[in-house]
Amino acid sequence: MTLKFSQTSDSPESSASPCVIVGVFADGKMSDAAARLDQASSGALKRLLDSGDITTKLGSSSLLFGLGGIRTERILVVGLGSADKFDAAAFNKAALEAGRALKTLPVASAASWLTSLEVPARAGAWKLRTAALAADMHAYRYTATFKPKEQARTAQLEALAFAGTEDARALAEANAMAKGVRFARELGNLPPNICNPAHIAAQAKAFADAHAGVACEILERDDMEKLGMGSLLGVARGSANPPKLVVLRWNGGGEAKPYALVGKGITFDSGGISLKPGAGMEEMKFDMCGAAGMLGTFVAAVELALPLNLVCVVAAVENMPDGNSYRPSDVLTSMSGQTIEVLNTDAEGRLILCDALTYVQKFEPQVIIDAATLTGACVVALGKYASGLMTQDDELASELLDAGNRALDRAWRLPLWDDYQSALDSVFADFTNLGGKYGGAITAGCFLSRFTTGYRWAHLDIAGTAWNEGRKGLATGRPVPLLTQYLIDRCA
Ligand code: BES
Ligand code: MN
Ligand code: ZN
Repeated sequence: MTLKFSQTSDSPESSASPCVIVGVFADGKMSDAAARLDQASSGALKRLLDSGDITTKLGSSSLLFGLGGIRTERILVVGLGSADKFDAAAFNKAALEAGRALKTLPVASAASWLTSLEVPARAGAWKLRTAALAADMHAYRYTATFKPKEQARTAQLEALAFAGTEDARALAEANAMAKGVRFARELGNLPPNICNPAHIAAQAKAFADAHAGVACEILERDDMEKLGMGSLLGVARGSANPPKLVVLRWNGGGEAKPYALVGKGITFDSGGISLKPGAGMEEMKFDMCGAAGMLGTFVAAVELALPLNLVCVVAAVENMPDGNSYRPSDVLTSMSGQTIEVLNTDAEGRLILCDALTYVQKFEPQVIIDAATLTGACVVALGKYASGLMTQDDELASELLDAGNRALDRAWRLPLWDDYQSALDSVFADFTNLGGKYGGAITAGCFLSRFTTGYRWAHLDIAGTAWNEGRKGLATGRPVPLLTQYLIDRCA
């Protein structure tokens, strides 16, 4: 369950919420809400600022208790940094840190006045959504596979009110995006012995069953064999978990051509016969985050009942070494008829995506977007902040980049010039699944481009952005905000 979001027209000093959140700038300048609290408490805030008890560095937070003249028990003061540098990114940082601090407090609800801060070029709806998603990012807890110890002891944050006049549309967008992000994160975080291809298919089916207007079809190995998906099925050969091709459809746009979302759902990527090194291999449970992100985007779009048509195709496959595995030097025949020489069984994502990309064309989509944790090379190129965007369509690129900027789920474009295509040359097949030494994110994009000719298509490499690395790293839910924003914009 996501946090329950609402809007309030209370003033901060008279709010009955157990926790009131306000911001203060670095130069001693209070936000309007902080100034009201200061006035009601006969200058208590100002004294604490002057003494340095309240810190104003961007993203810092201070907790105040029992201030006289004020109704709430707790005030969470969030540092906003310098007022003239306060922009969208700073707002997001402040909102995220407020969410982080809130998670540690024993309160079931809180009320935030961050949304009454002025943010250059951003409207109230944007502030509400950004603050809501930021809070929900921290409120989310993964508990599926253990009994949380502290949970019984303290109240959990369940509801968050934001200052502002009621804007039903903005609230709906915040709710829908938060739902989609949570859907994607939970699937991503689940271990691969639970979140296998059958589990992904079951989750999609359960969502479809619970939502009128959503159709779900699951293609089994037999179905894929009949369709000639030799590339996807090649990857699937080594696993005891049979592959599933999940197809979800939403018909909100009458006769219009659908937008197609295609996701890489490798539920565990061991590398196959080209086995990965042991260190860090556990992170390859996240190799289905492209699928999770597309399903999460679909969830958000349905939640908003967007007036467009959507088809979501997720290739759910496990990549394992086995006596029956595909091997380096195998030649696979894809559904498109093109043959592929396998030079590395660890470059499996493109091999399952290519057949999903061919399959989705039967729905005559107006745009195809895929998302995949496709290459380590993309992480080397862009790090953990930007997803890699590859497309030959400049207009589609700018629409997606723009959506990412507004949703603060940013992508950065890499070139898909023909110059890179020859890296895939093969003597034994139409091309190989492995590029050369350099530009690995781009040559992977080039591979996919060979299955989308004639379509407006874009590829998002989310290898660096889909989860936070390390022992405590969780799935982020990216690129659900970017893609949901993109779809919302198409309806405007
Ligand atoms: N799932 C990996 C990509 C990946 C690696 C994502 C590390 C996030 C972190 C993908 O299937 C893979 O193994 N790619 C190879 C491609 C190579 C064999 C051409 C890679 O990036 O090393
Ligand atoms: Mn791999
Ligand atoms: Zn992979």
